[in-house]
Amino acid sequence: MENNLKKEIDRLRKEKNAIILAHYYQTADIQDMADFTGDSLALAQWAAKTDADIIVLCGVHFMGETAKILCPDKKVLVPDMNAGCSLADSCRASEFGEFVSRHPGHTVISYVNTTAAVKAVTDIVVTSTNAKQIVDSFPADEKIIFGPDRNLGNYINSVTGRSMILWDGACHVHEKFSLEKILELKARYPEAEIITHPECKRPVIEVSDFVGSTAALIKYTVQSDKKQFIVATESGVIHEMRKKNPDKEFIPAPPNDSTCACNECEFMRMNTAEKLYNCLKNETPEILIDEEIRKKAILPIKRMLELS
Ligand code: 13P
Ligand code: SF4
Repeated sequence: MENNLKKEIDRLRKEKNAIILAHYYQTADIQDMADFTGDSLALAQWAAKTDADIIVLCGVHFMGETAKILCPDKKVLVPDMNAGCSLADSCRASEFGEFVSRHPGHTVISYVNTTAAVKAVTDIVVTSTNAKQIVDSFPADEKIIFGPDRNLGNYINSVTGRSMILWDGACHVHEKFSLEKILELKARYPEAEIITHPECKRPVIEVSDFVGSTAALIKYTVQSDKKQFIVATESGVIHEMRKKNPDKEFIPAPPNDSTCACNECEFMRMNTAEKLYNCLKNETPEILIDEEIRKKAILPIKRMLELS
C-alpha cells in the first residue's frame, strides 16, 4: 500500500473516531491496516463492544449488516457495497421463510453468512467457529433446520450425530477445491498436513488432517508440530498463518477450474486500500437496515454471542 494512502487512512480514522475491522480473507495490506483482523465471529464480537462512532467493515455485505444490526446508532461503512457472498445469495429470505413454515416445530439455526432478512426468521445464528458448540447445546432429540450451507451442515451432522434438515446452499469458493490436486500436493509434500474449512465438500474433508473455522485453522497451525500445511480455504488466511508461524510453510490448495495455484473469494477481494480510503473520507457506502427486520435479526445474533 502506498505510504501516503496509509497515512491518510490513519489520519481519517483518528479524526472521525472510526474503527477498521477486517476479515482474514482481505488482501494483506488491508489486514495490516486494520485495527482488528478476525473471522466472522470475532468481527461481530468486536462490533458489539466498540465505542467508535464509525465502523468500517472490510469484508462482505453480510458482515457489515451484522455489525449494523448490533450497533444501530453507529455508522457502518463498507468499502464496496457490491462485495456480496454466493452462500448468502443461495438463500433468499422469502424461500427460506417458506422452507421454515414447511417444518413446524423445528428450531432454525442459520449460519452468519445470511442476509438480515434470513436472520430475522432464525432462532439462533452460528459461525463456523461455534456451530458445533451451539448445536450441541440443544437436547439430542431437538428437531433442527440448518441453513444455508449444506457442506457445513453435513459436517456438523457428522460430528454431532444429528440429522438436521439442511438448506441446499453452498459457497462457490470452498466448493471448488480439487481433491485430485490436493492429493497431488500431498504426494509432493508427504509431511504436510491438509487443513480444511468445513464449507468444503465431503471428499476434501475426508482426506483432511484437521477441519475447522478460519480462527481454528490459524490456531491449529500454531499448535501443530508439523512444518508444512496444505491450506484448503480462502488463501487470504495464509497471511496471518505466516505472521504467526514464520518458520512454517503454507501451500494453498488449488481450485479445479483454473491454472492459478490458490483460491480467492472475488467478493472479498473487491475491497481495496483506495476504496477503504474513499469510504472513510466520504462516509459512504453505508449499510442501512429496515428497523423491523433489524429488531428481529438481533435476537438470534445476541443468542449466539451469549453462548460463544
Ligand atoms: P469464518 O466464519 O470462518 O470467518 O468464515 C466466513 C466465510 O465467509 C467463510 O467463507
Ligand atoms: Fe461468501 Fe464463500 Fe466468499 Fe466466504 S468465501 S464470503 S462464504 S463467497
